[in-house]
Amino acid sequence: MNVATPDPVRSRAVRRLPLGRGWHRTLLITHIVSGGAWIGIDVIVAVLVLTGRFAGDVEVRSLAYRSLATFVVWPMLTAGLVCLLSGLLLGLETRWGLLRYWWVVMKLVLNLVLCTLILLVLQPGMDQVDAYGKGLLVGHSDTAAVANLFFPPAVSLTTLTVATILAVVKPWGRIRRRAA
Ligand code: HEM
Repeated sequence: MNVATPDPVRSRAVRRLPLGRGWHRTLLITHIVSGGAWIGIDVIVAVLVLTGRFAGDVEVRSLAYRSLATFVVWPMLTAGLVCLLSGLLLGLETRWGLLRYWWVVMKLVLNLVLCTLILLVLQPGMDQVDAYGKGLLVGHSDTAAVANLFFPPAVSLTTLTVATILAVVKPWGRIRRRAA
């Protein structure tokens, strides 16, 4: 870590919430694990979407869509919210703050946008995906319900990769306050 980004674990003088080192580490581990779990769930989504579209066996395709509709959204949202909450606490607890550094603000915005998309765009379409998966078994094949399913994992994986890069590189420095 360089001079511009001092280690917030060691620089206790700049801590804002009075949490001990153990709590800080627990929060940071929770944050990193939830971000990793979120990325992992996105990879599962990508595999299910690709299987649903391209597998040769119609039963396998149906199972992929029904699994996607049944198992994926709530674990994904949970990982996103745990990442958000632990990130908020880390911001409040360390010198980084929530609105002091551009990289933290960017991550906050990205996290909020993704969670909103899961809730408002992905989740409402899952009944249709389930119906499409069941319909495949009886010969239905109107792909409209699943045509855009490639976008959620692609957008989410790209965004989470950007968030991880922001977390590690910590670019752009502090947000300057306007002179009064
Ligand atoms: C969008 C999903 C997110 C991902 C994938 C992510 C990933 C990470 C990773 C990998 C680290 C560890 C970096 C390191 O130790 O060098 C980290 C640290 C951090 N994250 Fe996030 N993060 C996300 C969202 C957030 C949000 C929403 C906030 C706050 C609003 C936040 C605030 C922080 C802070 C303050 C640290 C530094 C903690 C420290 O150095 O002690 N993150 N993040």
